[in-house]
Amino acid sequence: MSNLLTRAPQEPLVIGSPEHKNLLCSFFMKTHVPYEPAELSWPELDAAAIERLRMLPIWEEAVRTEAATALAVLTMGAAEKDPALSGAITLQGYEEQRHAEILTLMTAKYGIAVPPMRPLPPADPAWVFMRIGYGECFDSFFAFGLFALARDSGFFPSSLVELFEPVMQEEGRHIIFHVNWVAYNQATLPYAGRPGYVFKRGLAMALQAASRLKTALRVKGAADGAHDNFTMNAHAQLGDVSPREFIELCLGENERRLAPYDPRLLRPEFVPTIARAMLKTLPRRGAR
Ligand SMILES: [Fe+2]
Ligand SMILES: [Fe+2]
Repeated sequence: MSNLLTRAPQEPLVIGSPEHKNLLCSFFMKTHVPYEPAELSWPELDAAAIERLRMLPIWEEAVRTEAATALAVLTMGAAEKDPALSGAITLQGYEEQRHAEILTLMTAKYGIAVPPMRPLPPADPAWVFMRIGYGECFDSFFAFGLFALARDSGFFPSSLVELFEPVMQEEGRHIIFHVNWVAYNQATLPYAGRPGYVFKRGLAMALQAASRLKTALRVKGAADGAHDNFTMNAHAQLGDVSPREFIELCLGENERRLAPYDPRLLRPEFVPTIARAMLKTLPRRGAR
């Protein structure tokens, strides 16, 4: 009740309005957390913890993705004509660069071999930036749940989990930025240009979904083969989690991570909607 009395009523936000753009950019700039990857202090881990890290067949892909994303987002920041949007996108590119740096420092610290990579700047930064955004919407939803599992089960030592906490939270800000950026751009196009943009959005989303499926199959292949122990050990140590529990965890974590930001900004809906629909088909624990 006191909330109703003390909080000023908020005007509804018109998507595509200058207020929408200003809120999007100011939310992004104000919630940026400064830190230097080089100043992070990495914990000394015991041999078993290092082995668990090494067994994860994800590091090469993760470093490559973050490095390529950083360059693409920075290129988009430089190409964007609107100064406020350009500033926010450039900041996002800086954050992605930090992610790549943190992963590089971590793999070096614990002796995980990752070949050096040199990504190339994209020829069409707006298209690549859109695809990156959809990719992050897919990845973050599941990464939030996996991160919570790794944290709560003790699969990763808490000292290490803490270092990656800002990375997770930044991805939450990135996906809010993405859905609002896409909606803003679409709403500011003349009517004739909108069907083409909607098609482009659909294509970007479909391509990212297909690439996620390919990665999942590749990781599964690696887990079935060379990393035989990974699935077994991960399953044993992450706890006995059913698909239903995992999706519920992802939904809960997704909501928790996105909750702190201005409620007038759009939230990613696509993956959570599919996840909620899946829940209806998955058995409850103990159900036959
Ligand atoms: Fe990232
Ligand atoms: Fe990101």
